[in-house]
Amino acid sequence: MRYLKPYQQDFPYTVGHGDLTLHLDEEGSADILEPISALLAQRGSGTLRRGISGCMSGVRSRLFVKTVELESLPSRLRVTLGRQRRIGGYDWPIAELMNSVDAWRQGAPVPRLRGFGYRRQGLFPVRELFLISDMLDEHVDGRFWLTQPQMQIEAFLQGAFALIRELYEKQVCHLDLWAGNIMLDPQRLDAMKVVDLENCYIGHPPYWSEALGFQFAFLFLRLVQNHIDEARYDNLVYAALDQYPGIDRVNFERVYSLCKHQQISRKKRRDLLLTGNLQLRG
Ligand SMILES: Nc1ncnc2c1ncn2[C@@H]1O[C@H](COP(=O)(O)OP(=O)(O)O)[C@@H](O)[C@H]1O
Ligand SMILES: [Mg+2]
Repeated sequence: MRYLKPYQQDFPYTVGHGDLTLHLDEEGSADILEPISALLAQRGSGTLRRGISGCMSGVRSRLFVKTVELESLPSRLRVTLGRQRRIGGYDWPIAELMNSVDAWRQGAPVPRLRGFGYRRQGLFPVRELFLISDMLDEHVDGRFWLTQPQMQIEAFLQGAFALIRELYEKQVCHLDLWAGNIMLDPQRLDAMKVVDLENCYIGHPPYWSEALGFQFAFLFLRLVQNHIDEARYDNLVYAALDQYPGIDRVNFERVYSLCKHQQISRKKRRDLLLTGNLQLRG
C-alpha cells in the first residue's frame, strides 16, 4: 500500500504471518504478532465476532488493538489502491490511521499509534485493517465513568472542556467527541485523552467557531444531558468560552443551540467546519 508510505516511515519494523502484515514502530512491539495471529485463528473457527478492539499482551508489550473488517468490495479496493470515497476523504479506518499519526505529531492528548496492519491474501484486496496503539492502563472511558457512583458531573465536564481546549491549541478538531471517546484516569481528571480519531480535522479548520459549537453541543447530546440540566451546562460552556478570545459567539451559538438537540451525520459535521453551513434537512 504505497500511498501509506509517509505514515509507514514511523513504523519501519515489518512482521507477518499468513495473510497478516504488521508495520510497527520498533522491534520490541513485534511480540504482538503472535497474540493477534492466535486471535485470528480462533476467530476462523467461528467462536469470535469480527471487528474487535481490546488490550492484547505479547511477552513484553501491552497494546490496544482495534480491527476493522472492510465489508464491501468497493471499500476493499479503495483501501488497497489508496483511493478516496466519492464524497471525499478516505475510508474511516484509513482516516483514523492518518489522523492518529498526525494528531500525535502535533502533540495532541491521544494515545500514540504504535503500528498498523492489514490482512491480504496475495494480490487480493485488503480485507481487514488493524490499528495498534498504546494501551491506556489506569484509564476508563467517559461512558463508563458517567455510570459510577463517585462521578461528579461538573468535575468531569471541567476535564472534558480542558481536553477540548487542548485539542484546539494543538489544532486537532475531533468531530465525534462524546463521553465514550474520552479516556480518563479517575485520579487525574485534568489530564484526559481522546480516542477514535476517524472523524477529525487536523489543522486550523476554516470555521472553528461553528466547529466548537458542534463539539460542546455533541458532548451534551450524547449522555451528558442525562446528568445535568441544560441551563447549568450552558453556563459552564459560556464560562469556558472566555478562554477562546477569537471565537465568533453568534456563529458558535447558532450551531450550539441546534446541535444540542439534534444528531447530525458525519458528513454534515465535516461540511460544517469547511463551509460554516449546517444543512439539517436533505
Ligand atoms: N488506547 C486505548 N487504551 C485503552 N482503551 C481504549 C483505547 N482506545 C480505545 N479504548 C476503549 O475502547 C473503546 C472503543 O474504542 P474506539 O476507538 O472508540 O472504537 P469504536 O470505533 O469502536 O468506537 C473506547 O470507548 C475505550 O473504552
Ligand atoms: Mg468510539
